[in-house]
Amino acid sequence: MKLKGRDFLKEIDFSAEELLHLIDRAQKLKKQKKNGREKKHLKGKNIALIFEKTSTRTRAAFDVAAHDQGAFTTFFDSSSSQLGHKESLADTARVLSRMFDGIEYRGFAQSAVEELAKHSTVPVFNGLTDTWHPTQMLADFMTMKEHSSKKLQNISFAYLGDARNNMGNSLLVTAAILGMDVRLVSPKSLTPSSEVQKIAQDLAKTSGAKITITDDVAQGVLGVDFIHTDVWVSMGEDESVWNERINLLNSYRVTKEVLDLTGNKDVKFMHCLPAFYDDKTSIGKKIKDSFGIVGVEVTEEVFNSSNSIVFDQAENRMHTIKALLVELLS
Ligand code: CP
Ligand code: NVA
Repeated sequence: MKLKGRDFLKEIDFSAEELLHLIDRAQKLKKQKKNGREKKHLKGKNIALIFEKTSTRTRAAFDVAAHDQGAFTTFFDSSSSQLGHKESLADTARVLSRMFDGIEYRGFAQSAVEELAKHSTVPVFNGLTDTWHPTQMLADFMTMKEHSSKKLQNISFAYLGDARNNMGNSLLVTAAILGMDVRLVSPKSLTPSSEVQKIAQDLAKTSGAKITITDDVAQGVLGVDFIHTDVWVSMGEDESVWNERINLLNSYRVTKEVLDLTGNKDVKFMHCLPAFYDDKTSIGKKIKDSFGIVGVEVTEEVFNSSNSIVFDQAENRMHTIKALLVELLS
């Protein structure tokens, strides 16, 4: 399989076979690192990391993965570089391509990462846009594979919450590519755009994926192997939408009752993180003070339960991003 030189901008640019190959490579690299047998495939390579939005996991994962493999990284954000205000994305791409072997970009519009890739002569990796979060998908599907005895295609999962954000979109189309049973459970006003739903339905015709989009929590979660959720207000959205979002999503919080409704005592809980499950962050505290709730998209009971695999999922960001760098750059 030849992935070298490709961009990684969105899941639908890759076939099921290619995505499964990247996950497989990540599992091998994870094992090799744990056994102290990792080989460096990226010696002397340089990777630019551009973040127009904040990050902990994605930045750390690119950094550690690159360093483990012998590569160097340079971090850019919009406040300390010329990006956006003094220099266009096109020129940034043309400059960085002369010095770096790959460019990671996290930003707002999907068109920005596509523009960067159009003018770049080296692979560009989408580290999250408003529309897609493809590097997260490699980690999420690897984590489901690790935590199930079933083949990935036979796994079912439900995503509760804001289903038209990057996570809702990406989980839907990735499951559609891989032929899985995916349920998006959200109020009607927060379902993916008709364009994204059509992409998924078309993919399902060939992959055999089963797609359910419902506002009924009990129906949506029945029998699933995994429950996913994400924040109710994403980066780039105005703080003022919290009020409306909490009203809309209050009955879509992942609670112990929701886990019980699956009828599967081994159901696993997943979240791309960061998560609002208590009042120990400034936003969590503000929400408690303004709305009187502690735990927004998930309760602390579920987040810290034995069903929760969120930190395995977070660790897998690094192994999967490493696989991506090795496959696309070496
Ligand atoms: N899940 C994720 O992308 O986390 P960060 O925003 O911390 O990178
Ligand atoms: N939907 C979230 C994902 C964070 C990893 C956001 O875009 O803020």
